[in-house]
Amino acid sequence: MKIFLDTAAIDDIRTAARWGVLDGVTTNPSLFAKVGGSYDEVLKEICAITPGPVSAEVVAQDVEGMLREGRHFAALADNIVVKVPMSENGLEAISRLAGEGVKTNCTLIFSANQGLLAAKAGASLLSPFVGRLDDINESGMTVIRELATIVRIHELRSEVLVASIRHPRHVTEAALAGAHIATVPLKVLRQMVRHPLTDSGTLQFRRDWAAAQTANDRSSVAEPAAIGAGVRS
Ligand code: E4P
Repeated sequence: MKIFLDTAAIDDIRTAARWGVLDGVTTNPSLFAKVGGSYDEVLKEICAITPGPVSAEVVAQDVEGMLREGRHFAALADNIVVKVPMSENGLEAISRLAGEGVKTNCTLIFSANQGLLAAKAGASLLSPFVGRLDDINESGMTVIRELATIVRIHELRSEVLVASIRHPRHVTEAALAGAHIATVPLKVLRQMVRHPLTDSGTLQFRRDWAAAQTANDRSSVAEPAAIGAGVRS
């Protein structure tokens, strides 16, 4: 399963890239608003650091506006994927961009049927939002399982990118459901690294190692003294 970082924060992306676990990045207007500046410049910097796809989201609601913004993003770097919200206009824009060879990520998917339509329209990535469904007392993971199954059974060429991830358990369940990608904030990535038994185990190994060193140091000091005592007698 591929891991994407769900952020526009350059430092966070550099951190995940250093760990060797970064496959791509997803941004959206809200994530961009947190960092500010020029969206184009931020995207270019992210694309230079990221080995895989970087999603840039259109805000226009009409087809021509989506196409204009999408073509603009696609010209910024080779690894840009144009993110288009699910809607009738969004499907048309996805279909036309696919016809031009521009990769798209259909976002704001909340049902398997929406994902199926986006795949048929030609979206490379399908982004069902697991956390926002859980937030309203629905089962986000049910949608992930359904969509991943549909994509597999019908051998669709789109990849399921699980978005709106809130905690590490979402990642495990998405992987088990057969989703291709999980996009996570750095906080969740860090939570995935940690385990209390890893922490206590590391601490114990370091304590035992230090105790062994101390014991070795004592015996190497004690030995010459014993030999000296033997000579004197
Ligand atoms: C990523 O593609 C989505 O825009 C993002 O995961 C949404 O996350 P949120 O529901 O935490 O805003």
